[in-house]
Amino acid sequence: MLDRREFLQLLSSGILATALPSGMLSAKSLPVLSRVIPKTGESIPMIGLGTSRTFHVDVNDSVEMQKRLAVVRALLSTGGMIDSSPMYSNAEEVIGKCLDKLTKERVDEKLFSASKVWSVNTQAGIREYAESEKLWREKQFDLMYVHNLLNWEEHLKTLQAYKQEGRLRYLGITTSHRRRHAEFQKIMKEQDIDFVQFSYSIANRLAEEKLLPLAQEKEIAVVINRGFQTGHLFKRVEGKPLPEWAKDIQVESWAQFMLKFIISHPAVTVVIPATSNPEHMLENMAAAKGPMPDNKMREEMVRYFESVAS
Ligand SMILES: NC(=O)c1ccc[n+]([C@@H]2O[C@H](COP(=O)([O-])OP(=O)(O)OC[C@H]3O[C@@H](n4cnc5c(N)ncnc54)[C@H](OP(=O)(O)O)[C@@H]3O)[C@@H](O)[C@H]2O)c1
Repeated sequence: MLDRREFLQLLSSGILATALPSGMLSAKSLPVLSRVIPKTGESIPMIGLGTSRTFHVDVNDSVEMQKRLAVVRALLSTGGMIDSSPMYSNAEEVIGKCLDKLTKERVDEKLFSASKVWSVNTQAGIREYAESEKLWREKQFDLMYVHNLLNWEEHLKTLQAYKQEGRLRYLGITTSHRRRHAEFQKIMKEQDIDFVQFSYSIANRLAEEKLLPLAQEKEIAVVINRGFQTGHLFKRVEGKPLPEWAKDIQVESWAQFMLKFIISHPAVTVVIPATSNPEHMLENMAAAKGPMPDNKMREEMVRYFESVAS
């Protein structure tokens, strides 16, 4: 959350975001922490945006579209990552419309674009990629993954070729299923990939055992999905107070508690919480500022979460 001083700074710098709903602010002046992408040394903000479910809206519904526009505008003020996939209904179309609108408004903000190939068929994957380029209006994706390891041998060959041609900058693989972890690790060891994406949260720490250390060893950037377990974790702590010591790391909400836990792991590069709510976007971005918990406090965070969560 913004404190009073930051609020006044934003007011005086004129960064009141015109496209945000009444009273909402751009987080432009927030020092959102970045991490380095190991393969290139490029910096990337640690808070990105997922679009599964939250961006499945009718593009003709102006009220819903305004909300997504405000979410994207806030995120882009830091140059963050937007993550999508052809699997997510019409989310890529919604993203494209938002980006188009921001371009027309001459909003000159950076974007780190990330989508996926999601098909059992190689040629269908190639067509899908072209369709994603069209929907996002992207000539060069920053990152393209093989979604859920589907037909990964073939799609990785295509993505390698596209990378050579300059049609994308980074490539990777994703999963959110623990049953795919063994195969996932094998690919991380044997293939030349830049990014991996998998699930990790304060209530699901399986990745700490193999995936996160392996990513560090192989110098692969890590993007975390399901940091809130698709929102389920909020229900588990509903009505429960944060610990008194949360203020020592400038945590003011359960969302920030859970996000700070994730991004304070040294192998994590970016977390991509999904949201349809501009206020949640700002709240999530603010998790990547201020002090981070050390190892001792991370353990304490897990103990506290387990003691209060239902
Ligand atoms: N295999 C794969 O490649 C794979 C698998 C799973 C996910 N993903 C990616 O990872 C992204 C994130 O995972 P996810 O969509 O499963 O969900 P998630 O990020 O764990 O949770 C999203 C939910 O949290 C709520 N939320 C967000 N910020 C909040 C806040 N500050 N306070 C309260 N509620 C908040 C959202 O509701 P509001 O809209 O109300 O904010 C939404 O319902 C996906 O969208 C997708 O891009 C990839």
